Amino acid sequence: MGVVALVPAAGRGERLGYGMPKALVPVDGVPLLVRAVRGLLDSGCVRHVVIAAPASDVDNVNTVTAPLAPADGAVHVVPGGAERSDSVRLALEHALREFPGTSIVLVHDAARAFTPPTVVKAVVDAVAAGHPAVIPVLPVADTVKEVDAGGVVIATPDRSALRVVQTPQGFDAAVLLRAHEAAPGLAATDDAGLVERLGVPVVTVPGHQDAMKITTKFDLAVAEALLAGTGG
Ligand code: C5P
Repeated sequence: MGVVALVPAAGRGERLGYGMPKALVPVDGVPLLVRAVRGLLDSGCVRHVVIAAPASDVDNVNTVTAPLAPADGAVHVVPGGAERSDSVRLALEHALREFPGTSIVLVHDAARAFTPPTVVKAVVDAVAAGHPAVIPVLPVADTVKEVDAGGVVIATPDRSALRVVQTPQGFDAAVLLRAHEAAPGLAATDDAGLVERLGVPVVTVPGHQDAMKITTKFDLAVAEALLAGTGG
């Protein structure tokens, strides 16, 4: 069972306001990307990682991630694309070319740097058990409204049927490739959305609060507090 994780990390991270790609922003001295890749490898079920880095930062990303997989070439870095989905597609093509035995592909945002390895393993196990697409999710705590372009509420979906979606998302490799090929140029915010368009069922496993996406300075402060609490 060849498991490869793709890590789209090519965003500029402007909402964080750090003046550097978000993936390279340090939390307690360790870049988010390094923490995210370490979590994938610590799960014990990911053999290779392909990172899509900002084109201008491929060398930097190679340098910061080199200590994670000394000598055995487990971590590759490729230039990302204009949109997240372009970065995923470029990393996927690289993975299928370089690691031909790949049967399961995870897609994991560098911004979810504190995802517990147990969540990674649960996703891989569910794909290995025969589900072609698996996503970690959490229940929704807030009531969610759908609004029109003017901000007027048009619907209140039943909260009990809603979930927030995290990563890593896990896929049968051929299904993920088909999903990307079927939607060229579509700027999807997550890969499961592309798989849904194929009519392939997407199943859920429990996510974890620590797998929160670090987008704003507030999120970064939460991550720092989390680390202070665990001594990590
Ligand atoms: O912008 P957002 O936070 O939704 O991005 C989610 C993930 O996708 C981030 O880890 C970001 O680095 C990555 N991304 C990418 N290529 C882009 C845009 C975003 O790899 N062109």
